[in-house]
Amino acid sequence: MIWKVLSCLVRMLPLVKVHSPEVRAGKRYLCDPLKPLVMGAEMISFLLQSYPYERMLKIRKRNLSPSLVTYYKKPLLLHQGHMQWLFDYEGRRYLDLFAGVVTVSVGHCHPKVTAAAQKQLGRLWHTTNLYMHPSIQEYVEKLAALLPDPLKVVYLTNSGSEANDLAMFMARIYTRNFDLICFRGGYHGGSPYTLGLTCIGSYKHGVANAFGCQSTMLPDVFRGPWGGSHCRDSLVQTIRKCSCSQGCCEANDQYIEQFKDTLSTCVPKAIAGFIAEPIQGVNGVIQYPKRFLKEAFQLVRERGGVCIADEVQTGFGRTGSHFWGFQTHGVVPDIVTMAKGIGNGFPMAAVVTTPEIANSLAQNLHFNTFGGNPMACVVGSAVLDAIAEDGLQKNSKEVGTYMLLEFAKLREKFEIIGDVRGKGLMIGIEMVKNKDSCEPLPAEEMSQIWEDCKDMGVLMGRGGIYNQTFRVKPPMCITKQDAAFAAEVFHAALMRHLERTVAS
Ligand SMILES: Cc1ncc(COP(=O)(O)O)c(C=O)c1O
Repeated sequence: MIWKVLSCLVRMLPLVKVHSPEVRAGKRYLCDPLKPLVMGAEMISFLLQSYPYERMLKIRKRNLSPSLVTYYKKPLLLHQGHMQWLFDYEGRRYLDLFAGVVTVSVGHCHPKVTAAAQKQLGRLWHTTNLYMHPSIQEYVEKLAALLPDPLKVVYLTNSGSEANDLAMFMARIYTRNFDLICFRGGYHGGSPYTLGLTCIGSYKHGVANAFGCQSTMLPDVFRGPWGGSHCRDSLVQTIRKCSCSQGCCEANDQYIEQFKDTLSTCVPKAIAGFIAEPIQGVNGVIQYPKRFLKEAFQLVRERGGVCIADEVQTGFGRTGSHFWGFQTHGVVPDIVTMAKGIGNGFPMAAVVTTPEIANSLAQNLHFNTFGGNPMACVVGSAVLDAIAEDGLQKNSKEVGTYMLLEFAKLREKFEIIGDVRGKGLMIGIEMVKNKDSCEPLPAEEMSQIWEDCKDMGVLMGRGGIYNQTFRVKPPMCITKQDAAFAAEVFHAALMRHLERTVAS
């Protein structure tokens, strides 16, 4: 026992420092402005109670899905989160730029959301919607108020895949058509139904699926065949040049031609619909030409289809300029799906649609045991309050813009940054061998930069078909000071990469 306590105390030593360039330079400093929250008795008790790290690794390998991806060579063992920060089991602090895959919207353990959940835990967990409970009415009224007319009917589910399953089902029932169009590179879920819409090869398994799901060319203005210097809705454009005059976009026209080609070659005259993320998330923050969705929506509606916006990553103010990603394209979808940020980490999701589409589903029963349970509804409600009260959409815009421009400066400086893009707190940094070829940066080099950032205290996501893009989508409470720190760390990691390249 004595040994165990002593070893705990030794493991707590790093509590007094944070990983940062200053630490790497040998200048240890106290963890300000936020002290680690796990000092003292609570940390000792956690370390005493928890399994040793090696044992956890073994259990993970033996008893969890072998298809699990575990980030980093030495996987992180996290113990606590507070707003934009995560703390590992030894008290090391990390700036979380990935937010549990774009899920922690208002901040880890946001005090208001935590308090609401704790209050409800002691009151009522579950009833199903066979009975009334106040929280569901309060929540859907609040959520629906944030959507434009006629998107006013809310279905509550438990995950993004489940929400998209339901949206697919709705589109087919309402239109009485079957075929759905989606973008290559899109991720819409891992359930058998949604896997038909998910077009990233590594998620595809060799089983029959995707009946009635047709993928179309992704209008990717950086890596795709067409793109220029003012295609996308971002303060940072691609490094490609074009001669389009103001108001015209040749890349858009070419990609729309491809969309029309899909309509005339892959689907019947009447279709069920089209699904798109307003900005592709898993595929590394891909933005389409500004007019693309508007024109595509019109073509889909001409074929009798409905338009589905998958707001699982782009919703809840993350893009900064608007609350929903579809608003940035000047369109109103027929069905909107949302998850992740909706619950700040609580497993919940939603589909919002029009009364007309909802009525088509009312011919038969549709039931979901946990969807809209009291816990989820109070959490969802508190998340909406926190977004409004903490000014998080505005913060996404201000801090996101600052960070985007900081990363864009690094693109000027480093040959291996091919593209910097995004909006608000949804930023992608696409890494290449060099700007001429734009070939993806080799995996080992990508991983080393990423590991170095982690070692300096910054966690980033990865994405893209070749896993070549760093994804920056932090909790929306991140500050400008954090953003400056993140850019500094990324710069230091790129310098180390340069040193390695010169040395080899
Ligand atoms: C855009 C998008 N849609 C749907 C999903 C599926 O959500 P879930 O993992 O909650 O099923 C994801 C998950 O990453 C996503 O990014």
